Amino acid sequence: MITTNRVLSLIQPTGDMHVGNYFGAVANYVRLQETHECIFGVVDLHAMTMPFDPAVLRANTRQMFIDLIAAGLNPDKCTLIIQSLIPEHTELCWIFNCLTPIGDLGRMTQFKDKSDQVEGEGGAFISAGLFDYPVLQAADILIYRADQVPVGKDQVQHLELSREIARRFNYSFGEYFPEPAPLLTEAAKVMSLADPEKKMSKSLGDKHTVGLFEEESSIRKKVKTAVTDSGALPEGVTVSPGVANMLTILKSCNKNDVAESLLNDYKAGTLRYVNLKEAVADALVELTSSMRARRAELMKDPARIDKIITQGTAAARQISRETISEVRKLTGLPERAN
Ligand code: TRP
Repeated sequence: MITTNRVLSLIQPTGDMHVGNYFGAVANYVRLQETHECIFGVVDLHAMTMPFDPAVLRANTRQMFIDLIAAGLNPDKCTLIIQSLIPEHTELCWIFNCLTPIGDLGRMTQFKDKSDQVEGEGGAFISAGLFDYPVLQAADILIYRADQVPVGKDQVQHLELSREIARRFNYSFGEYFPEPAPLLTEAAKVMSLADPEKKMSKSLGDKHTVGLFEEESSIRKKVKTAVTDSGALPEGVTVSPGVANMLTILKSCNKNDVAESLLNDYKAGTLRYVNLKEAVADALVELTSSMRARRAELMKDPARIDKIITQGTAAARQISRETISEVRKLTGLPERAN
């Protein structure tokens, strides 16, 4: 079996990055760039699979790209891309489309959830792009022959499909692609501040999230109003979801001992929520203040961002052109001067 040990993960341009995105994914990318050959970036084409506004798409894509750097991805240590700038993603996607049974796509739970959402929001149609989303994702990964994909559990099914596509290609046209596997880390799942039974997500609304680059005063205000006590707990649950979420955030900020001692207070019935919240706010402010400063610097220098985009695109295309040229040969398409 072919292995490359190359890491790839991409993220949707959802607007400003929040601490849920950071602890759930980006913090892990930042660690991986030290040990692996990595490609990270923003999937603007995937963002078109749900109803979108061009100005918002443009702004969010650039913002997410900047935020990845501000959060700690170093363009000298990893390759940073914007998906649509590398046309080989979509070219490979077409070839993969022709290897993918529509039945497999209909079984994808993300497709079912998102099409329910589209219907729920009132009559807009479900696009072929939404249906095809996982095939483009397989192309994102395999165009670089990456085989390590750091993602959350919700993406495991998509990666199974990517492996199946790789296998079907290899079987039909010759061993060429590695089989990408999820790199599951014990990334913390941060919950909403206002409704700690739901995953922190921008779509829930502003009071549910803490932006990774929010001002100190705003972080403190949000944490102060977070839901901690939710009344009687179900059988077998010893910590309320809100308190558990506060402790998760503390641990994610590397404040394990603080979390431990506050948990003991909680169990002893002596915890004062103000103290818990103050500890969480302090930890978040400490973690994010240098990121906020770095982001402000980056935002002042659009030419530097453009240069990083150009540099990432060039590095990525070196690999993607090689892959597509080999794939064209293997599948019977004419050679093309790049
Ligand atoms: N589907 C992924 C998500 O929603 C985003 C994504 C697109 C991705 N292409 C990818 C993740 C390739 C990993 C590898 O999180």
